[in-house]
Amino acid sequence: MNIVVIGAGYVGLVTGTCFAELGNLVTCVDINAKKISQLKKGVLPIYEPGLEPMVNSNLKNGRLNFASSLKEIKTAPHVIFIAVGTPSDKNGDADMQYVLAAAKDIGAFIKDDCIVVDKSTVPVGVADQVKNSIQAELKKRKLKTKFEIVSNPEFLREGAAIEDFMRPDRVIVGCASNKAKMIMLDLYTPIVRNPEKIYFMNVKDAEMTKYVANAMLATKISFMNEMALLCERMGVDVENVRIGIGSDSRIGNSFIYPGCGYGGSCFPKDVKALIKMAEKNNVDPAVLRAVEERNKNQKYVLPQKITKHFGKDLSNKKIGVWGLSFKPGTDDMREASSLVLIEKLIEQGANVQAYDPVAMPVARDLFPENWFKTGKLNFTEHQYDALKEVDALVLVTEWQSFCYPDFSAMKKLMRQHVIFDGRNQYDPKQVKLAEFKYYGIGRE
Ligand SMILES: NC(=O)c1ccc[n+]([C@@H]2O[C@H](COP(=O)([O-])OP(=O)(O)OC[C@H]3O[C@@H](n4cnc5c(N)ncnc54)[C@H](O)[C@@H]3O)[C@@H](O)[C@H]2O)c1
Repeated sequence: MNIVVIGAGYVGLVTGTCFAELGNLVTCVDINAKKISQLKKGVLPIYEPGLEPMVNSNLKNGRLNFASSLKEIKTAPHVIFIAVGTPSDKNGDADMQYVLAAAKDIGAFIKDDCIVVDKSTVPVGVADQVKNSIQAELKKRKLKTKFEIVSNPEFLREGAAIEDFMRPDRVIVGCASNKAKMIMLDLYTPIVRNPEKIYFMNVKDAEMTKYVANAMLATKISFMNEMALLCERMGVDVENVRIGIGSDSRIGNSFIYPGCGYGGSCFPKDVKALIKMAEKNNVDPAVLRAVEERNKNQKYVLPQKITKHFGKDLSNKKIGVWGLSFKPGTDDMREASSLVLIEKLIEQGANVQAYDPVAMPVARDLFPENWFKTGKLNFTEHQYDALKEVDALVLVTEWQSFCYPDFSAMKKLMRQHVIFDGRNQYDPKQVKLAEFKYYGIGRE
């Protein structure tokens, strides 16, 4: 099939590359011309395990192409995916400007019948706006091209995106016609194998499914973070509680790990957008508001523990930070807990020395340049360099290389032997045996 993917970010690039890998002819279009010129050379704008070799092999075999405008595409696509960003606007609503701009571009581009598949996460009803926008452009061009809007929300996880795309738990497709259903079946059958894993529903139901899935996962995390605080106050180890409740098949083990708050490009903005949808429809989103509030506060739990240990004035303290990205396996820094932590530490006078296996180039642009110039903030080349002469280590992102560290080497490097474990990665007994003071989340 001829496929166009609009937006070559985390979702668009993975979608386009994986469909090319499966034998389709794919062009990924992005308005960011610099990104496209790099992609044409096989240089990726993001870190995603396994993606770079797949992009390069499909570039070489000619199944994957890149363009900075739809105008560059000469062959009519059967399917056009919209995979542009849908960030929060200043009110917390999902900002539809990129989706609607893409729709306008599609209306100005298509001549032949096709289906337009919305992969971006969009509020219920946006498919109609996309349709109207395309229709308006076709009308200006006096064309009667037939097209249909399909909703096909994406559930991939950054850091495991290829695996998730190629072996999804399920594929959600919202569409109205049998023709669209057959095209989507054709596209996804090689991936899913078992067609029962493709769930067809109407467009609005599919749009809503994505938000409810993310809100449910965010709720599990925030609930568990709240329970962790309570456990800590009552001398209970939340990790034992987690194992205890996770073994209940009605609850399950996923997304119940206490930590220093969720981040990323999806949960924060999607919870916000769902709150807005509820308010507009006169439903009080009490649970969603609590989820958001708990998460906002959770990002301050580590700074609070550090303040409790060292006092408010951190001006003569140097703090080592392991992990910057919002989770392991990605360089995505959107809404990362490390941003809140580092800002707070520097505000309280500390110097910060941080290391992340892949996110440092992205993170560098997110902090004020003078913090680097004045030495307030420093990124190190190796993970153990971040511990030189520090008064404490704060683990923020549980990258594998941080999970089994050499405690005796750490002891020699660090000025004071204190660990704040924001992801409960370490066994407190082992850390204490190594003569470190240990602070976890929901445990001592
Ligand atoms: N990142 C994830 O893990 C993930 C997972 C599931 C769903 N989603 C959803 O997928 C969508 C995309 O997310 P993302 O993380 O890939 O975003 P992203 O910010 O990484 O990428 C979006 C890309 O779209 C491009 N773009 C914007 N307007 C354009 C236009 N008119 N024409 C062409 N390109 C345009 C941008 O330049 C950017 O490269 C969002 O709705 C998001 O909620 C994301």
